[in-house]
Amino acid sequence: MNIKLAVVKGDGIGPEIITEAEKVLDKIGEKFGHSFEYTDILAGGCAIDETGKPLPEESVKIAKESDSVLLGAVGGPKWDTLPGNLRPERALLGLRSELGLFANIRPAKLHDALADACPLKPEISKDGLDLVIVRELTGGLYFGDRGRRHSGNDGEEAYDELKYSEKEIERIGRVAFNLAMKRDRKKVTSVDKANVIETSRLWREVMHKLAKEYPAVEFEDMLVDNCAMQLVRNPAQFDVIVTENMFGDILSDEASMTTGSIGMLPSSSLGVGTFGMYEPIHGSAPDIAGQNKANPIATILSCAMMLRDSFGLMNEAKAVESAVTKVLNDGYRTADIMDEGGKLLGTKEMGDKIVENL
Ligand code: NAD
Ligand code: IPM
Ligand code: MN
Repeated sequence: MNIKLAVVKGDGIGPEIITEAEKVLDKIGEKFGHSFEYTDILAGGCAIDETGKPLPEESVKIAKESDSVLLGAVGGPKWDTLPGNLRPERALLGLRSELGLFANIRPAKLHDALADACPLKPEISKDGLDLVIVRELTGGLYFGDRGRRHSGNDGEEAYDELKYSEKEIERIGRVAFNLAMKRDRKKVTSVDKANVIETSRLWREVMHKLAKEYPAVEFEDMLVDNCAMQLVRNPAQFDVIVTENMFGDILSDEASMTTGSIGMLPSSSLGVGTFGMYEPIHGSAPDIAGQNKANPIATILSCAMMLRDSFGLMNEAKAVESAVTKVLNDGYRTADIMDEGGKLLGTKEMGDKIVENL
């Protein structure tokens, strides 16, 4: 296969982790007879510096002409005081909505070798942890009307609108139920705040209707505050969690720690076709940027998701995942997953080790 990728290196650790991911893809290409063609597109802080805009039209155009997008991370303190619509993060939201990527899949799986890096007690993780968060990605608070206005004598007032349509809820629900059908445990937990907010009450109604179409799937609702607690108390109870945009953002960072580090969690963002955007769930990590310290595994595992979900390359995806597992089993660690007896590697050396095992 000849695969054309639009690549957002982005800011902070973005370029460092993308370099390692491209090395892994190139090795896969060499081994399995594919070629990967990368076109760098500007998005985020670096795009602001070069063009004055977080997401130049040219970048969206190139992304649309590509087979998929690979993204590092965007944002950083340098751009934190810009107005909302000119911030680097706008680029991410723009790509997600322009490309119609409403379903964000974030698998959190604890590798056996990282049991000691996981901050939970061994008895909580002893039977393994393997859950997936299905996050709605193009609706909710992230895309509602927002702004500021003056209100009486109380000074300025800010507002962010939260809305969801039945159609938006149903299509993300289907992604979650279909995914659950392919997994051993076939369980969906729909997470909301239906005891307080109206969008969650509609969310719950739609999910219940859908659940009836999937009798093979065990279904439950859970309030989001309880879910945040249960993820630490007993994460093994979860299989597929489906939730709205903002809750999914927060719960997925929390869930990432069950795997040892946020540097381990990959993601895919999908729409109706095979086109996807693949990125780690973490950010640009300004505190460790440029120091060869970042864990590239989340980005490398995102490439495995891309090979499988967008291109149907099952063996290639498996090869990447097995190489990562092997390197972890051999005791190699980046700083964020370091444990007793671990052999510390930098970003580049971790990338090299994974390539060596392909
Ligand atoms: P962050 O995820 O960048 O970092 C949080 C903590 O996790 C930091 O201590 C960081 O060093 C660590 N960390 C993150 N990724 C790591 C990795 N691969 N290896 C080792 N350690 C890692 O979150 P933040 O500090 O809240 O945000 C920083 C910037 O990133 C902000 O501008 C934010 O908007 C942006 N951000 C971007 C994305 C994205 O591009 N997809 C996602 C989240 C945050
Ligand atoms: C993520 C990030 C983004 C989000 C930000 C940077 C816009 O935190 O991908 O999880 O909130 O979706
Ligand atoms: Mn996030």
